[in-house]
Amino acid sequence: MKSEHAKPKICVRKARSSDSEAVFKFCEKTWSWGDYIPKVWDRWLKEKNGRVFVATINCVPVGISHLSIDKPHEVWLSAARTDPKYRRIGVATAITKKCLEYAKRKGAKVARLVTESDNTAARAALQKLGFKPTAEFVEMATEDVSKEKSKNSQRVEENETEAIWDYLKNSETYRKAAGLYTVLYHWFSLEKQDLERFVERRKTIAHKNEMGDMDGLTMIDDATAQEWRENTMQTCYIDGDYDAVFDMIKFLKSRCYALGVKKIHGFTCNHKPITTALEKLGFEPPDSTEIVYERKI
Ligand SMILES: CC(C)(COP(=O)(O)OP(=O)(O)OC[C@H]1O[C@@H](n2cnc3c(N)ncnc32)[C@H](O)[C@@H]1OP(=O)(O)O)[C@@H](O)C(=O)NCCC(=O)NCCS
Repeated sequence: MKSEHAKPKICVRKARSSDSEAVFKFCEKTWSWGDYIPKVWDRWLKEKNGRVFVATINCVPVGISHLSIDKPHEVWLSAARTDPKYRRIGVATAITKKCLEYAKRKGAKVARLVTESDNTAARAALQKLGFKPTAEFVEMATEDVSKEKSKNSQRVEENETEAIWDYLKNSETYRKAAGLYTVLYHWFSLEKQDLERFVERRKTIAHKNEMGDMDGLTMIDDATAQEWRENTMQTCYIDGDYDAVFDMIKFLKSRCYALGVKKIHGFTCNHKPITTALEKLGFEPPDSTEIVYERKI
């Protein structure tokens, strides 16, 4: 509820490990299942390319936000939390402004973050702060990891990177995805060097048409396995028409089957030909979508 009283003074500073008790307390019921902040707190406080900011009122922590400067020009904001007792008085706004100032000083030119399509509070706060929705993604998961027969999909070889990059530059999906890929719930710009890294690490699948031209790409990662301690794999980026995606995901399923992976988290831009192919292959559609917001700084 919006406070009728005079707004208290909000200070924003770098987080300290001694803030943990107060922060964990007000994060206890962020979501119905709790919050992940206690799991990442110690690691975030030590990050070289990241920072946690804390807002205080009368020296008591009442809100946090985290940022990481992924590439010199881009900053990713996450974990905006305001103590339920202090909402609607400008806490998140004050912390976000501090994050943007800090990132700008570090040379970042663009700030991004993600929120669920049904998070009305966050979306309203972001709009007020001048962020614009730039792309919509979904996470579709399946535990049906079976052996499937694919036809024209294979792992990308290093000498094919240039052809894939040419394909991406003209791709409608790449435009629709605002040129972004994701690892866990963190979106990054997909530049040529990112593609090269995925290819080198054997984490890319391409589809070729009858003429032998590239017409689809899937990038994968096992970050979900490491971070969530599951035997899973995720897609980081999917591109192609229905048939290309259908074939690449069958290839991925077989590869995961051979590796004993139990679940695939299918992260993709919310583009109908792709989500339809995933659904056809047993991926469950989510209740809400992920909206990536962006603001120049
Ligand atoms: C989203 C959240 C961080 C906002 O924090 P906050 O400190 O209350 O936000 P602010 O006071 O800075 O709000 C700024 C503006 O956002 C909008 N806003 C914030 N909460 C709103 C709500 N519940 N309904 C509608 N608009 C809202 C308003 O326009 C508000 O300005 P106003 O109060 O002058 O009208 C807070 O609700 C929260 O912690 N939610 C749970 C965690 C979460 O969803 N985090 C975001 C993940 S992306």
